[in-house]
Amino acid sequence: MNKKISKLGLGTSNIASLGKSLPYNKAKRLFDLAFDMNVSTIDTSDTYGSGDAERLIGKIIEDKRNNIFIISKVGYPYITLPKSMSPLNQFGKKILQGLKFKKRFKKKYILSGIEKSLKRLNINHLDAYLLHDLSIKDIFVHKDECFEALYLIKKKGLSRFIGISSNDHKALSFTIKNTNVDLIQTKMDFKKKNSSLLVEAKNKGLKIIVNSIFNQTLDHSLDIKVNELLKNFHINEKYKKTILITYCLLQKNIDCALFGTTNMEHLNLIGKGYEKYKVNFSELFAKLENLFK
Ligand SMILES: NC(=O)c1ccc[n+]([C@@H]2O[C@H](COP(=O)([O-])OP(=O)(O)OC[C@H]3O[C@@H](n4cnc5c(N)ncnc54)[C@H](OP(=O)(O)O)[C@@H]3O)[C@@H](O)[C@H]2O)c1
Repeated sequence: MNKKISKLGLGTSNIASLGKSLPYNKAKRLFDLAFDMNVSTIDTSDTYGSGDAERLIGKIIEDKRNNIFIISKVGYPYITLPKSMSPLNQFGKKILQGLKFKKRFKKKYILSGIEKSLKRLNINHLDAYLLHDLSIKDIFVHKDECFEALYLIKKKGLSRFIGISSNDHKALSFTIKNTNVDLIQTKMDFKKKNSSLLVEAKNKGLKIIVNSIFNQTLDHSLDIKVNELLKNFHINEKYKKTILITYCLLQKNIDCALFGTTNMEHLNLIGKGYEKYKVNFSELFAKLENLFK
């Protein structure tokens, strides 16, 4: 199977979340537009919408499974009540997370977690399965069993690739140095504090996915300089996010950049804009590179 991770990936943390969830038809149109623009990596998690994001994706991708690279994750507590009470799932999850319930990385939990995700997604294997927001503390507590569970999952063919999502430098470093995972997902690091870590990961052959490209505030003075640069290149401000995500993907260590949207217009700006800017604006990206140094 040579299905590859796509450069742009669609995040789904909002598509089924409280107060923001998309009805099936709207979600289907959004995903179909994404697939048309070669955004064929979908990132989800068991906890997004307490399982509803996976269920919605499962319905949408039914006839396209072979063309889509699906990532899911395990570890955050969530609740699934019987169907009649399912609207309460989301409140239950918020309460659990508000009470700082521990993340769940026991081997048994992870192994049953992937079975549940596959069932909700209505598929027989994932393309990548990740331990969700793994911290160094989680590793101290669960290292032997959580990575063992991932190896077993890969061996059984339940996921083609395995990995972690984390913003914890120590957890990333431990995982890169001491385990045999295939992939890491982490927050985009515009200031390049993690660059040596990413080089190390790349040298070990790991794939790197970045998230939180828009959900982080750039330093105010830097933000002003980015705006000025866009003006100098006669680029409308509505393309700023497109430029930022294209910049991420021009970094040689980054295989995939995730973005979240429930808005067709925003998806269009990014999908179509990426194709246009990545080839024609090398001078702009060289200047951005200097700004972020
Ligand atoms: N720990 C983890 O594993 C982890 C952590 C964070 C994220 N993720 C993954 O990454 C995905 C992306 O999430 P993120 O936190 O990184 O969010 P993000 O993509 O940085 O930002 C999403 C926000 O940007 C807005 N947006 C997107 N395109 C836009 C455009 N062209 N113009 C204006 N606004 C735009 C969206 O609003 P609209 O809906 O209005 O467009 C949404 O409010 C998540 O869905 C999830 O799959 C994983």
